[in-house]
Amino acid sequence: MATTANHFTLTLLLFGLLIVTSLDFTVGQVGVCFGRLGNNLPSVQRTLALYKKYNIRRMRLYDPHPPTLRGLAGTGIRLMLGIRDDELRDLANCPDAATAWVRTNILQHPNVTFRHITVGNEIDPDSEFGPFVLPAMQNIYRAVRTAGRAGQIKVSTSIRTDLLNTSYPPQAGEFKCSVNWYIRPIVEFLRDTQTPLLVNVYPYFAYMNDPQNINLSFALLQPNSGVVAGGVYYDNLYYAILDAVDAAMERILAAVPSLFSVFSEEMKKGGSRNPGGKGSETGWSSKGGGNTPMAADMGYTTALGDGPINTVENARIYNNNLMRIVKSGTPRRPGRPLETYIFAMYDENLKPGPAYERHFGIFLPNGQPKYPLRFR
Ligand SMILES: *[C@@H]1O[C@H](CO)[C@@H](O)[C@H](O)[C@H]1NC(C)=O
Ligand SMILES: *[C@@H]1O[C@H](CO)[C@@H](O)[C@H](O)[C@H]1NC(C)=O
Ligand SMILES: *[C@@H]1O[C@H](CO)[C@@H](O)[C@H](O)[C@H]1NC(C)=O
Repeated sequence: MATTANHFTLTLLLFGLLIVTSLDFTVGQVGVCFGRLGNNLPSVQRTLALYKKYNIRRMRLYDPHPPTLRGLAGTGIRLMLGIRDDELRDLANCPDAATAWVRTNILQHPNVTFRHITVGNEIDPDSEFGPFVLPAMQNIYRAVRTAGRAGQIKVSTSIRTDLLNTSYPPQAGEFKCSVNWYIRPIVEFLRDTQTPLLVNVYPYFAYMNDPQNINLSFALLQPNSGVVAGGVYYDNLYYAILDAVDAAMERILAAVPSLFSVFSEEMKKGGSRNPGGKGSETGWSSKGGGNTPMAADMGYTTALGDGPINTVENARIYNNNLMRIVKSGTPRRPGRPLETYIFAMYDENLKPGPAYERHFGIFLPNGQPKYPLRFR
């Protein structure tokens, strides 16, 4: 009898552990961006086998590449799916185009686990695409909601942090007033749908842009290299950047509501709940190439080039530390684990720009890991 009882207890314990582990599994997860700008990359099937082998449970895909969508079916890999820039105009202007996009790229793939749709990636508000982002988000959101999938699939856009005027200390985070026309209605829409703003968070570029004032180990997310910023202790630069976006969103939502917002359901309920930011890209390049000036189109004022910070060792340190820091929340949102996506799966030899752009991969084109990295 005693043995059976013990056995039962043990089974319960094991079962409990399994539940705890599987719950923990989806919390604070790091996915990988599957960028495909290379002419020497492994096939989709081989790539998906690598995701499985290395326990990578989330993928960001920049456009609805049909072979990848077909390959993802039944894998359970949670997908963040992008929209091509050249589709934004139609999606913004024609609700039917959005309905068709959702039908073709989401509904026709019933066995793919879609979690996010990114309407625009790093769109420059002043580019030709800027005015289309919000209306395209609204039309895609309506189409997703009509399909009954709004509870599972979040519709957002992915921004670059150069939309911020102030990012330090994080509490002082503020968007540039010149992009207010763009970001404010987007943030209000995201408040109304309670969807995080997606943010490409790059301590790498922040450090490259300001090595005099940023400690490299703070940028590499090394344990015990925290700083006190505006009276708040920050473990690492990733948290600081995400919190700056959170504070900037809060500032928008605390201000006098815009005309549209006054009529929103959320405002009628008296809410101003800030959905905050969520990581959609991060990473560290393992190789530079001479002293190439930072491209002006990266939005940085200092032309420092890609010097000695681009090493395999720094990339290994950064991405391994990332696995640890996502398990806890930031000072502004303690107890809320993060989700993020490492850029990128492979070194992409056709990526334009300075040499470092082509060395963000965690795998070599032959499918070998560039350095040890444990997904958990
Ligand atoms: C989805 O999976 C189910 C169960 O495995 C299968 O019967 C169905 O054909 C799949 N649908 C598609 C479109 O792949
Ligand atoms: C940035 O912030 C400074 C200081 O608050 C302010 O003077 C300036 O106008 C802001 N610039 C933009 C583009 O928002
Ligand atoms: C950076 O931070 C680390 C850890 O706190 C410290 O050991 C190191 O001296 C700092 N480096 C500089 C240049 O301040």
